[in-house]
Amino acid sequence: MKAIVYTEFGGPEVLKLAERALPTPGPGQALVKIAAAGVNFIDIYQRKGMYPVLLPAVPGGEGAGTVEAVGPGVTEVAAGDRVAFFGAAGCYAEYALAPADRLVPLTAALGFEQGAAAMVQGITAYVLAHVTYPLKPGDRCLVHAAAGGVGLLLCQLAKEAGAFVIGTTSTEEKAALARDAGADEVILYTQQDFLAEVKRITGDRGVNVVYDSVGRDTFDRSLECLAPLGMLVSFGQSSGFPAPLDIQRLGGMRSAFVTRPSVFAYVTDRAKYLAYAGAVLGMAAGGTLRLRIDRAYPLAQAAEAHLALAGRGTTGKLILKP
Ligand SMILES: NC(=O)c1ccc[n+]([C@@H]2O[C@H](COP(=O)([O-])OP(=O)(O)OC[C@H]3O[C@@H](n4cnc5c(N)ncnc54)[C@H](OP(=O)(O)O)[C@@H]3O)[C@@H](O)[C@H]2O)c1
Repeated sequence: MKAIVYTEFGGPEVLKLAERALPTPGPGQALVKIAAAGVNFIDIYQRKGMYPVLLPAVPGGEGAGTVEAVGPGVTEVAAGDRVAFFGAAGCYAEYALAPADRLVPLTAALGFEQGAAAMVQGITAYVLAHVTYPLKPGDRCLVHAAAGGVGLLLCQLAKEAGAFVIGTTSTEEKAALARDAGADEVILYTQQDFLAEVKRITGDRGVNVVYDSVGRDTFDRSLECLAPLGMLVSFGQSSGFPAPLDIQRLGGMRSAFVTRPSVFAYVTDRAKYLAYAGAVLGMAAGGTLRLRIDRAYPLAQAAEAHLALAGRGTTGKLILKP
C-alpha cells in the first residue's frame, strides 16, 4: 500500500510517499481502508519532534473509511462498516490499523470527509464548549483563530449555547467566516491589540472564558482578558509553546482558572467518546453544525497540506485522499 513516511524530524519536506506492507489487525484492532485522512496540528508537532513519536513514522491519527478486516476479539465493528475515528496512528496511508474501540459508526447521511472533520476538530470544539467550560446563556467568551478548523466549530457551538462570542482572526476574509459561524464581534489581532479590544467590547468586564489555541503569541494577554473567576483554556500552540506561568498571576481580584486540556483525556471512556462523537455527527447530519472542508489533497501532497495549515492559509478541515 502507499503511505506517507518520515524517517527524521523536520520541515514538511521530510514527508515522503513510500510503499509499505499492508498491516494485519491484531487483537482488538481493525484494518480500515482510508477514504479521508484528517490533517491536524498534532501531526505537525509530531513531525517537528515537539511531541514524542517513534521513527520511522506514518503520520495521521484521524480518518474515515470502511472496515476491511477485524482482529481477534473485536465486537464493536465488522468488515464493511463505514466508520470515522481518531486516536489511531498511520492514517496518511491507503490502509490503517485502528483500535476497534476508537471507531465510530458513520451513517450514510455524512460523507467520509465530513466524518473525518467531525472527529478531532469537532469533538474538541464540543468538549471545550460543553465540558471544559460549559457555556451558558449570558457568558462572554473569546475564541482565538476563530476561522480555523476548531475555531469555526467552537463559534457555532458557543453561539448555540447562548454565549456572546468574540473571535480573533488575522484577516478580514477570515473575520467574515467567523461572523458567519456566529461570532458577535471579531478582532483582527494582526491590526488591533486584542486585549484593548476585549476591554472595549465588554465595557472593561472581561470575558468568562478564553479558548486559546495560539499559545506563545496570545497566552499572556488572554489571561488579562478574563473577568473575575474566569477560565483560560489553553488548548494549543499554533504559534509555539507559551512561556512558563507564574501562578501568582492568577490571584487577587482575577482569581482565575487555567487549564491545558487534551481531547484524548476526555474520551478515554468509549461511552463518552461515542456520546460526544454522536452529538457532533448528529448536529452535522441535521444541518445545525456546519463542517467546513477547506481542501482535500491527494495523499502524495501531504507536505503541501502541512505547509498550508502551519502557514495560516486555511479555514476549516484539511483532508488527504489516498
Ligand atoms: N488540545 C486538544 O486536544 C486539541 C485538539 C485539536 C486541536 N488543538 C489545537 O487547536 C489549534 C487549532 O487546530 P486546527 O487544526 O483547528 O488549526 P487551525 O485553527 O485551522 O489553524 C491554526 C490557526 O491558528 C492561527 N495562528 C495564529 N498564529 C499562528 C502561527 N504563528 N502559526 C500558525 N497558525 C497561527 C491562524 O489563524 P489566524 O490566521 O486567524 O491567526 C491559523 O489559521 C492547534 O493549536 C491545535 O494544536 C488542540
